[in-house]
Amino acid sequence: MDGNEKNIDELTAKPNAARMYDYYLGGANNFGVDREAAERIFEACPDARLFALTNRAFLRRAVRFLTEQGIDQFLDVGSGIPTVGNVHEVAQKANPNARVVYVDIDPVAVSYSQELLEGNANASAIRADARHPKLILAHPEVRRLLDLSRPLGVLLVAVLHFIPDDGEAYATVKTLRGEVAPGSYIAISHATHESMPLEAVKKGEEIYSRTTNPARARSRSEIERFFDGLALVEPGVVYAPLWRPETPSDLLVDQPERSQSLVGVGLKTV
Ligand SMILES: C[S@@+](CC[C@H](N)C(=O)[O-])C[C@H]1O[C@@H](n2cnc3c(N)ncnc32)[C@H](O)[C@@H]1O
Repeated sequence: MDGNEKNIDELTAKPNAARMYDYYLGGANNFGVDREAAERIFEACPDARLFALTNRAFLRRAVRFLTEQGIDQFLDVGSGIPTVGNVHEVAQKANPNARVVYVDIDPVAVSYSQELLEGNANASAIRADARHPKLILAHPEVRRLLDLSRPLGVLLVAVLHFIPDDGEAYATVKTLRGEVAPGSYIAISHATHESMPLEAVKKGEEIYSRTTNPARARSRSEIERFFDGLALVEPGVVYAPLWRPETPSDLLVDQPERSQSLVGVGLKTV
């Protein structure tokens, strides 16, 4: 699938998740429609920015953890617009030979990533839909850069809540789990409504329903189900700030529920 040729009017007609998230993080790769929708999210969910910041911090810690386990190749699905601490930067700092393929459904996110990766022989970005994991794994860039017979780090970070249909969301993870080699890890973060007032959840989902990426927060048990068939790494499924924090003053370690995100890392053992 390739939609990089979409014209700018089409791309800016509706807000989209990648650019709204870029705005939450203080980035400049967003348009007026995205900023308006993001501001409405801030009204409904004042901690949305904290969600984004703690989510990025989890992503960095998870990638570092995986490199420490010897993982040297990553598939980052729903990778977003490049920002501080991109996966290839974190992974290649630990291991200059680490390989990364970024995957996103949004053509803008993909072209920013491709631009950033120019000249990096070990990283690439492709446009594809997480709901079609077999197509992702068969993609020529994935085949060129990643050796699927060896352990892989699969990152599904803040993307599964953009697959509101349970059947599709669980099938995405199950297929990836089935296809990767034993010794692979799957890292997941997911928006949860466990610690949010119902009104805010409804309002947030309503705002996202008018973007190109309808979203759905899930409960703790629904999020835990994504790890079925995997061995959960300690400390299990926890609020993002509590997943192997690096210092006692890490953001929201003292108020982890405000991250509104449950995260975990699972290992495929067989
Ligand atoms: C909130 S951003 C997360 C970016 C990055 N993973 C992070 O955690 O910092 C979610 C990303 O998922 C992408 N996305 C949404 N639905 C997708 C799908 N079905 N397939 C691939 N990417 C998708 C969006 O375009 C967006 O870039």
